[in-house]
Amino acid sequence: DHGYGPDIDHVLLSEEQIQAKIAEMAEQVERDYAGREVLLVGVLKGAVLFMSDFARALRLPTQMEFMAVSSYGSATSSSGVVRILKDLDRDISDRHVLVIEDIIDSGLTLSWLLKNLGGRRPASIEVCALLRKPDAVKVDVPVRYVGFDIPNEFVVGYGLDYAERYRDLPYIATLKPEVYSS
Ligand code: PRP
Ligand code: MN
Ligand code: MG
Repeated sequence: DHGYGPDIDHVLLSEEQIQAKIAEMAEQVERDYAGREVLLVGVLKGAVLFMSDFARALRLPTQMEFMAVSSYGSATSSSGVVRILKDLDRDISDRHVLVIEDIIDSGLTLSWLLKNLGGRRPASIEVCALLRKPDAVKVDVPVRYVGFDIPNEFVVGYGLDYAERYRDLPYIATLKPEVYSS
């Protein structure tokens, strides 16, 4: 557990559950994109672990680009303010773009991102998110592929952070309340 054991309240999704779901999602994407070259656009930093495992599971020729946006800062709820910290460094026009996200919480990040990327004239654009919190959604975002719908509680691990920590956990978990107060 990378030494985080004492901070973990409970494990929501185990490493095995996550990897099994990724294999399932990859099969679906393989079928849908057969014969096309996919451009995975990972949203830094949260999507890094998912992107890496997903790209390996996907038996299609894919390319990878990254964009960094931030809406949270170090707080645990979304501010709705999206900032580009790093833009794509290539043109995505006429490309089949699959946006890779770790989690859709309020939906504000993705809704903003889809508008932004959609304006760059991709051949197609879809979203693949590992997690979604249906009870937290403020704006509806069309998401083609979703791994798990989860309850509206703050989770960390597998790319998701609290104040930049816990991203390196291979599973998804909640934190003990005292972690937030210290
Ligand atoms: C988190 C998460 C998603 C976004 C979801 O990123 O990785 O990108 O928030 O929230 P929303 O649906 O309410 O907009 P964050 O802004 O914390 O940056 P990070 O990926 O670098 O942690
Ligand atoms: Mn993120
Ligand atoms: Mg974050």
